[in-house]
Amino acid sequence: MAKASPSFTCTACGAAHKKWVGRCEACGAWNTIIEEAPLSSGPKSLGAKGRVIPLTDLATRGAPPPRASSGMEELDRVLGGGLVEASAILVGGDPGIGKSTLLLQAAASFARRGVKCLYISGEEAAAQVQMRAERLGLTDAPVGLGAETALRDILTTLDAERPGLAIIDSIQTMWLDTVDSAPGSVSQVRAAAHELVTFAKKRGVAIVLVGHVTKEGQIAGPRVVEHMVDTVLYFEGERGHQFRILRAVKNRFGPADEIGVFEMTGDGLVQVTNPSALFLSDRDKPAPGSAVFAGIEGTRPVLTEIQALVAPSPLGTPRRTVVGLDSGRLSTILAVLEARCAIPFAGLDVYLNVAGGMRVSEPAADLAVAAALLSAREDVAIPPDMVLFGEISLSGALRPVTQTENRLKEAMKLGFSQAIAPTRSKLAGVDGMNLRQMPDLTAFVGEMFGAG
Ligand code: TYD
Ligand code: MG
Repeated sequence: MAKASPSFTCTACGAAHKKWVGRCEACGAWNTIIEEAPLSSGPKSLGAKGRVIPLTDLATRGAPPPRASSGMEELDRVLGGGLVEASAILVGGDPGIGKSTLLLQAAASFARRGVKCLYISGEEAAAQVQMRAERLGLTDAPVGLGAETALRDILTTLDAERPGLAIIDSIQTMWLDTVDSAPGSVSQVRAAAHELVTFAKKRGVAIVLVGHVTKEGQIAGPRVVEHMVDTVLYFEGERGHQFRILRAVKNRFGPADEIGVFEMTGDGLVQVTNPSALFLSDRDKPAPGSAVFAGIEGTRPVLTEIQALVAPSPLGTPRRTVVGLDSGRLSTILAVLEARCAIPFAGLDVYLNVAGGMRVSEPAADLAVAAALLSAREDVAIPPDMVLFGEISLSGALRPVTQTENRLKEAMKLGFSQAIAPTRSKLAGVDGMNLRQMPDLTAFVGEMFGAG
């Protein structure tokens, strides 16, 4: 019988290769090719018949998974209403953003509420973690500490201790002696995550894996870890800002796109339960180039301030600098303003920024972005008590967005009294708000800036 040749697979995109290469030809990723054992020809006889139950048979469904609350409202919301037993969670983020701090605080919170917690650090010595805990005022919490990187030993420890929650900080420092490569390499991370997730499911331990993110924004090494776990949370924030956002990008037990907001202080992370107030800068005086966007993050309305600066450019190709928003979206909005409203931005540098280090990805922010750009260009301030939202289509029309009422209610709660939104037929429960609905960008420009 001919010997099956080895096959090589890219762990980033799954493409198969005949030989090992440094860079995957299919997706362009570097160092993601691993050797896979050749497939043996399948079993000759059929296996046993598996059990099939009708979808409608509610008796076999069982109760919803039990959840433990951390007592940290912002964390519980992102988890979909608390920690699910035997679930696997990946927490990713840039080095130094505060993942270890967040998880040590979370472990202490869970422990104080009777969940047995184990915090295993592969990056810091136990004494270092204790020092941090002391600084954070957590020394009274009954959290078990371990400083270990050998996965085999960790699994044995977990098996003996039987915690309800184990935190592995970080997955990139773990190594398995059966895998022949360095800790942090794709195959090590993948194998270690697989062992831990399998253990979590089998023994009913909830596991949190901490993962550092690479410069490209991926959880270092393999995306495969994201597929293995139930929940993927990103801890993000701009350097230089004290605000941190925990964002659910995948959640098998709750809504994705939910956010929790924290502030990094000298005493650790503090929850921010009213983020809208925080993302709005001091807004007493009207200032050109600033527009307030009434957005929705997950299930919660959040107001953010969009700031723009437009200045004559000395460069042949003017600068387009964006922080906190998609730069492609800015280009689109500039093109629509130019093509549909005859307002050119050629020869002008454009700087766009979301205040407070927030990231906005909703298309509903388009109108606020356009308003900030126009306000900066015309040097006309938008009334400080006005919020805006609406998606701009390529034709220049304003498209309705979801949850109009929730956006308006949040704005009213924070003292805003005017709103501009896309035209929509039915709208209820927004008494007290001066709401103007507009069909397209031309109408908006005419109304706000007196030109069309
Ligand atoms: P850390 O949790 O170690 O980050 P990560 O695990 O994501 O790498 O956080 C490190 C940063 O947080 C560090 O720059 C100092 C800052 N920090 C505070 O500002 N206040 C605190 O109470 C703590 C513990 C850290
Ligand atoms: Mg850390």
